[in-house]
Amino acid sequence: MPTLRIACTALLVAVAAAMGAGRATSQETAPPTPAKATPWTPPDIGALPDDATGRRVRLGRDIFTATYAHIGPNVPDAGKRYAGNNLACRNCHLHAGTEPYGFPVYGIAPDFPAYSARTGTEITLLDRLNSCMRRSMNGRPMPPDSPEMQALVAYIDFLSTGVPDSVKLRGYGAGRMALLDRAADPGRGKPVYEAKCVACHGENGQGVRRSLPSVDLGYMVPPLWGPDSFNDGAGMNRLITAANFLHSNMPHGTDYLHPTLAVEEAWDVAAYMLDQKRPSMAGLDKDFPDRSTKPFDTPYGPWADDLPPARHRFGPFPPR
Ligand code: HEC
Ligand code: HEC
Repeated sequence: MPTLRIACTALLVAVAAAMGAGRATSQETAPPTPAKATPWTPPDIGALPDDATGRRVRLGRDIFTATYAHIGPNVPDAGKRYAGNNLACRNCHLHAGTEPYGFPVYGIAPDFPAYSARTGTEITLLDRLNSCMRRSMNGRPMPPDSPEMQALVAYIDFLSTGVPDSVKLRGYGAGRMALLDRAADPGRGKPVYEAKCVACHGENGQGVRRSLPSVDLGYMVPPLWGPDSFNDGAGMNRLITAANFLHSNMPHGTDYLHPTLAVEEAWDVAAYMLDQKRPSMAGLDKDFPDRSTKPFDTPYGPWADDLPPARHRFGPFPPR
């Protein structure tokens, strides 16, 4: 139905244009006030034809939402075990990457290649995906020409459908709450965890498996720390990133317009979560070769200043 498709694209562009404003990382964008918060409508994956492109996009969406079943550590083909844990991309990139302030990945394809302060070089979208593979998924890079990488890229390209280069959508990152004027405190976070998280994520942060650990059906509720979680080089291991994600999105079902955690609770429970043991990644000292660009809350050194490491992990953080 070509007429309908043109109409839908026009509508999408109109909505996107109405939303206006520039894209920025999580630490730079404040959530819009409710009145301005026009939701972006993702293109309809079900309307894609059943051709090679349509199938590639659908496979990409499936890998994104059930990563463990395709490239997880328990899949039968050892050569496909790229991810080192049983998380799924969608556990952090909520609603299959379409949730404002739930680390959405819509509209980002035209931004790459882009300069990365972490590597000190230009990176492609494939490099960016592999960065989440090595850190958030505690795994190894997917080869650029592997069907899984091609499918994930096709899905992310699809989520940029109809978004003109000049239009930047809202909702990137996870929001930006007020900073605390004290250090975030794992001790104060513990009772918050016990009251508001433990019922789903478990006493030891282990989450809830869908089945026996020998079967690769992933988690109903993902783990927050321990051997099957994101590693210490992941973006979620930074306090500002994690605290904003929790404030905007947790307990599960919360949306950024109606946060349920108080600001202080979000900082302290994030500190509690990040104070637990998780896998560690080799070579983190090579990140941010220009130390002056290293975000203050990067929890691993070396840093440009000689403040105590605890300041970088839990704050208090300098005003921005
Ligand atoms: C443990 C949480 C977590 C998991 C799991 C995860 N990511 Fe990410 N990802 C992040 C965070 C945090 C960022 C940084 C977002 C920001 O600062 O705006 C990010 C950034 C990205 C970006 C760049 C987004 C942009 O705005 O430029 C892409 C693309 C991406 N991830 C893809 C993936 C894919 C594909 C997977 C699964 C293979 C995955 N991620 C798994 C947390 C995660
Ligand atoms: C009602 C159950 C529920 C509650 C309560 C809940 N979560 Fe979650 N959480 C989830 C689910 C389910 C996901 C995965 C989201 C998805 O895939 O859509 C998730 C994802 C996450 C993630 C990102 C993925 C990962 O494993 O790292 C973090 C971090 C997190 N939750 C922390 C918390 C914290 C801290 C609290 C308490 C303030 C909390 N959650 C409360 C169900 C819950």
